[in-house]
Amino acid sequence: MNTTEEVRTSKTKNEKSCCGPECCSDENTDTDVAVDEKSEAELKEIVKEQYSKVALASNESNESSCCGTTSSCCSTDSSVGYTIMADEYKDLKGYNPDADLGLGCGLPTQFARIKEGDTVVDLGSGAGNDCFVARAETGEKGRVIGIDMTPAMIDKAKVNAEKLGFSNVEFHLAEIENMPIENNTADVVVSNCVLNLVPNKTAAFAEVYRIMKPGGHFSISDIVLSGELPAKIRTAASMYAGCVSGAVKKEEYIDIIKNAGFVNIIIQKEKHITVPDDIYFDYLTKEEVTEFKKSGFGIFSITVYAEKA
Ligand SMILES: C[S@@+](CC[C@H](N)C(=O)[O-])C[C@H]1O[C@@H](n2cnc3c(N)ncnc32)[C@H](O)[C@@H]1O
Repeated sequence: MNTTEEVRTSKTKNEKSCCGPECCSDENTDTDVAVDEKSEAELKEIVKEQYSKVALASNESNESSCCGTTSSCCSTDSSVGYTIMADEYKDLKGYNPDADLGLGCGLPTQFARIKEGDTVVDLGSGAGNDCFVARAETGEKGRVIGIDMTPAMIDKAKVNAEKLGFSNVEFHLAEIENMPIENNTADVVVSNCVLNLVPNKTAAFAEVYRIMKPGGHFSISDIVLSGELPAKIRTAASMYAGCVSGAVKKEEYIDIIKNAGFVNIIIQKEKHITVPDDIYFDYLTKEEVTEFKKSGFGIFSITVYAEKA
């Protein structure tokens, strides 16, 4: 483990905010059926619905961002937003504000060792944020492929690529567990805050292994947990779509990567995510929150590197 960094959690007016509990919705996504009773297909529908709202809200309210200065779409309170997981992208080469919906939980490209001419695949590419940063490193000779299962995200990413005039950045509507990509294609795979949302992580990493060239590698930022979530949080749909309750423990995450066949697995960065109490109060009483916080539970963003031998 190289770095542990406490993340500042802020709750400020009109601040951009998305990936996190209660992400980007004025509606309560929780239904009467608990998340652990839903099928994989139903969980994916919840995710698609939520991220579709994010993409469409960003188009309608502010051409450049989901929760820009004209609107605070990513909160249950119209005047307040949360910044919980997202890292700062602005200083990265290739950064495109139109593609940055504040949905990430790390900077996977920072550790991705992308070289000129590389083929890079971004899993759960959203509006294309990491694809455009990767494109700055691959240059014109490279190829960048974004995969996302939410049609509104793919549409937005394609508009962004067209505006930038990139002919070697492509976006495909597909599921990570079944990508329309030939075996041994990618030099590098990146992903930002996505695999926690995939119910079958084993299938996802097997597919990453399949599309990667021998000698290729990935850099993936994602959410992992330590300790146990209270049932009321674990089973809430909004906590699933908000990148919390679909996450697994760090050891389990690393084991899935190992079992997929990857080697030289390194956690390049780890940071603790602090969730404001008032989010927990939507699910738990004050007393339950106090107990829960004493239990040693933690939410972490990790950026993992691994190679295909
Ligand atoms: C938290 S957002 C992150 C978006 C982007 N990586 C970013 O940082 O801006 C998660 C994205 O992953 C996509 N996604 C979730 N599960 C997926 C799956 N199984 N296959 C393809 N895309 C998926 C969602 O549609 C959504 O756009």
